[in-house]
Amino acid sequence: MTMKKLLSPPSCALSSLLACLFLAVCVPASAQKSLPKTVAPPPPILLGTAWYPEQWPESRWPADLELMQKAGIRFVRVGEFAWSKMEPSEGNYQFGWLERAIDEAGQHGIYTVLGTPTAAPPAWLTQKYPETLRTNEDGRKAEHGNRQQFNWDNPKYRELARDIATRMATRFGHNPYVIGWQIDNEYAEVSFDPHTRADFQNWVKQRYGTLDNLNERWTTAYWSQTYSNWNQIPLETKPGNPGLLLSWKRFVSATWVSYQKNQLDAIRQNAAPRQFITTNMMGWFDGYDHYAVAKDLDLAAWDDYVGEGHVNPYKNGSTDDLTRGFKQKNFWIMETQPGHVNWAPINNDLNKGEVRALAWENIGHGADAVSYWQWRSDLNGQEEYHGTLVGADGTPVPLYPEIAQLGQDFAKAGPVLQDTSPKSQVAILHTYPSFWAIDWQRHNKNYDPIDELLSYYQPLKDIAQSVDIVQPTVPLDGYKLVVAPGLNVLTDAAVKNLMSYVNNGGHLILGQRSGMKNVDNGLQTERQPGPLVPLLGGRVDQYYALIHPVPVDGQFGANTSKLWAELLSTNSPDTQVLATYGKSNGWLDGKPAIITRKVGKGSITYVGVWMDDAGMAKLAKWMTAMSGVTPAFGPVPAGVEVDPRYSKDRTVYVLINWASTPQTVTLPAAMQNVLEGGSVQSVTLPQYGVSVLSEEKK
Ligand code: GAL
Repeated sequence: MTMKKLLSPPSCALSSLLACLFLAVCVPASAQKSLPKTVAPPPPILLGTAWYPEQWPESRWPADLELMQKAGIRFVRVGEFAWSKMEPSEGNYQFGWLERAIDEAGQHGIYTVLGTPTAAPPAWLTQKYPETLRTNEDGRKAEHGNRQQFNWDNPKYRELARDIATRMATRFGHNPYVIGWQIDNEYAEVSFDPHTRADFQNWVKQRYGTLDNLNERWTTAYWSQTYSNWNQIPLETKPGNPGLLLSWKRFVSATWVSYQKNQLDAIRQNAAPRQFITTNMMGWFDGYDHYAVAKDLDLAAWDDYVGEGHVNPYKNGSTDDLTRGFKQKNFWIMETQPGHVNWAPINNDLNKGEVRALAWENIGHGADAVSYWQWRSDLNGQEEYHGTLVGADGTPVPLYPEIAQLGQDFAKAGPVLQDTSPKSQVAILHTYPSFWAIDWQRHNKNYDPIDELLSYYQPLKDIAQSVDIVQPTVPLDGYKLVVAPGLNVLTDAAVKNLMSYVNNGGHLILGQRSGMKNVDNGLQTERQPGPLVPLLGGRVDQYYALIHPVPVDGQFGANTSKLWAELLSTNSPDTQVLATYGKSNGWLDGKPAIITRKVGKGSITYVGVWMDDAGMAKLAKWMTAMSGVTPAFGPVPAGVEVDPRYSKDRTVYVLINWASTPQTVTLPAAMQNVLEGGSVQSVTLPQYGVSVLSEEKK
């Protein structure tokens, strides 16, 4: 029996109205000739895989697509490394094979996300235009044979990238099976060549206007760094002048923005507006400012790889939340591991059931698609050992039925999850400049700003059951509680936003190292938290990097601060001390460690300690209680994660059991069991078990 089935024409029900509109608007007469007239819009929750048809004979495609269809895979991401197939020699464009692949996939009910192939330029290109190759920091030029050998700042490369993107968009921009675009692949590598250096100097000039201004703001009198000509400004990644380092990162980010825009414009000008444009980001990777790069995209996406070990639900879920925060809306998982990767020190497999649980965690945190990298093992190439859904022999691997189960899950849950997204009462603030600034000057080598953020995230997620991670400049009024674990670089815009949040009744918590730096990564001229000192009625008198933890006691019980301790003081009668240090280095002994001040109906709190998990849990309990944060769902046993998604009609809860034993959850009210059917009052989940529960709004 063949699995082939045309994407079904939309029915005449109300729900088809959109679909008809979709077709009428999006498929021009010229493009309709060889393409089907009716293509239903994609389902709301999509299972996908990265497919490389260019590596296989066309005669094999139907068998692969049948296996995908059987597993409930509804989209393939195609093309992102296939430049040498699309343009085997300069100007010789070959898109016929790609069109046939897209069409064949469509015949199997599978949509396509097209990748522009610019992360892997062909050999002829780098041979003819060696200036397009990037230069490593040590001055060596990259070579062909790996990928990402291009220079993101090179004008010739941009011209060539725009050309291929334009031609792809012209050819496929109205293809009804193509639902979206991925630009390039995992932006990461930058270049240190003379042209980039000149561009950087020019960028700095635009930003600072005059050398006097730059010299003052970077305090270049220090070590005779004073510049008398823009062309003296070096490229430094570390350990240079902090103003220079931050400028370089801002330039790197701006250059990715323009690199991306170059292709994005080419696609937008030639493609139907229904086709979204994204790129695949990499979670906490901090090579560039993701907020800046996400701005021009229609949606954010990330590649979720666990690597060695097993899923850490907090680390992984927080990365989903981070990505959701880039555009403050639902996102995609563009790649995730089918069991194991090939690049970790030990490439162990996720346990049976864990891959499905991970996918559901992504959905719970706001992903609308999960896509496996990759479909089938490459017969050669650097990633022969990577996990796949089908082996080199073309038959399913043991994980395949678990993916097929997800395919069924998504088909069932899609209609219920349609138009739902997470919405949180708690926001954690995050900026790249703050992370970079701490990372460049850790002062204690073990001080990892991501770990600091997670030490707040974990207990807050347990209590509130949903947490947003956003920039400090977004509107904050909708949040009951705003927590800034390490807001080291405090811009004027952020200060203004935070002050008005507190003055309007919001509750702000500042964690260690907050408010130390200004927009140029220079020190604030007030002690921490800089311009927020008057609002706090207190400050950080001194910071201490620690070899051994120091004792802390007070409102949150006896605890310690492990890597860092900030000696606080109050200068206002209504600023309260919530915890003090015990006997330690003499300086800290008996001094304030956590202080808080009520401001109208709101409050501002400074936490100078980084306590162990039990202490952070007590702190989170206090913060949520005093700010009125309520759990989104209600009590669940330890090890059970609950993720809410809301629409105007309903709330959908995704429950996942990460504990090693079965857990029973009593529901706060009867709910519809979306995956298993029926109305339920409680569910029992085995390890990695998932339940999707829906509650209609009354
Ligand atoms: C990603 C990359 C994919 C593949 C994958 C393997 O970083 O985008 O192309 O290499 O890693 O884990």
